[in-house]
Amino acid sequence: MTDQLIIFDTTLRDGEQSPGASMTRDEKIRIARQLERLRVDVIEAGFAASSNGDFECVQAIANAIKDSTVCSLSRANDRDISRAAEALKNANRGRIHTFIATSPLHMEKKLRMSPEEVLEQARRSVRFARNLMADIEFSAEDGYRSELDFLARVCEAVIDEGATTINIPDTVGYAVPELYGNFIKSLREKVPNSDKAIWSVHCHNDLGMAVANSLAGVTLGGARQVECTINGLGERAGNCSLEEVVMAVKTRRDYFGLNVNIDTQQIVAASKMVSQITGFVVQPNKAVVGANAFAHASGIHQDGVLKARDTYEIMRAEDVGWSANKIVLGKLSGRNAFKQRLQELGIELESEAEINAAFARFKELADRKSEIFDEDIIALVGDESVTA
Ligand code: KIV
Ligand code: ZN
Repeated sequence: MTDQLIIFDTTLRDGEQSPGASMTRDEKIRIARQLERLRVDVIEAGFAASSNGDFECVQAIANAIKDSTVCSLSRANDRDISRAAEALKNANRGRIHTFIATSPLHMEKKLRMSPEEVLEQARRSVRFARNLMADIEFSAEDGYRSELDFLARVCEAVIDEGATTINIPDTVGYAVPELYGNFIKSLREKVPNSDKAIWSVHCHNDLGMAVANSLAGVTLGGARQVECTINGLGERAGNCSLEEVVMAVKTRRDYFGLNVNIDTQQIVAASKMVSQITGFVVQPNKAVVGANAFAHASGIHQDGVLKARDTYEIMRAEDVGWSANKIVLGKLSGRNAFKQRLQELGIELESEAEINAAFARFKELADRKSEIFDEDIIALVGDESVTA
């Protein structure tokens, strides 16, 4: 089994399903560019068939992104799949991600289909998609609450039809780590052609266990793709958080033994950008990207860290994109410090003239206010910012 863990980011699709988090096309392109800088393997750009607007977003991102695979979600029907393929036409690397629910509850109450009908529709849809594109992901929605033998038949059928990634979501965040990990393991053991696909986990955070469940899916279950979002943005309590999964795998490489392609120094900029665009504030004590994640307040901790950083730091702030010593901006600060803070905030002004103008406004404000906070900078650059 490979030791490479694929990072599939769905901030722009599942993240956007968070009530109040909708993004414009330009905002989505800015985030997609930052995700590419972060070196995520797959960017789920949207759900092309859901609206003309979403179609255009997926298309624009497929045109703009060169290094990451660009993916569109689609239900398991020909129209959705064709729209996804059309939107991804110009992608350097494109992926169609098709899904259908497989749990008894969803099949009976939501789809009103028998298990055999669901199996056939999954099979036909993947066959149809495979004729349009080489890279096909199949998701069994509410997979974790599905009956194991039936789910195994569905997975076997879609792998036979050419699905290259099989994703088993914990759609409602019901799993606990050991059970979820063992579920993925048992499922893979029941699928005779399981080695022909990469197995993927997609966990929601309703019980606060999305990251732990995803990691158990990797260690116990053998999954090699994790689906996640920046800041854990997503429907209800959110999705598995990208920054936490990535830093867990990096920091505890001794335990996980896995590699990720992520450029971790881009994490904070990505977090700030998503927070700024959606208006979803990151809680200060959030792991990795919270304002206090690398702050030391108590005297004993400060003393320890000053003597040896490892005493109270298991990872370096600089490794995820924070500056080592937080510079408090004020009237004595220079243009470089100002420019660096803009970068940390994920804000990129288009020209040197715009930076100079913003810096002049910053100086004016600093004359009236002893300390300038990040919120002040965001407000003073306002609409001129075109976050990178
Ligand atoms: O949570 C879920 O089941 C999903 C699928 C559509 C992949 O987001
Ligand atoms: Zn989801």
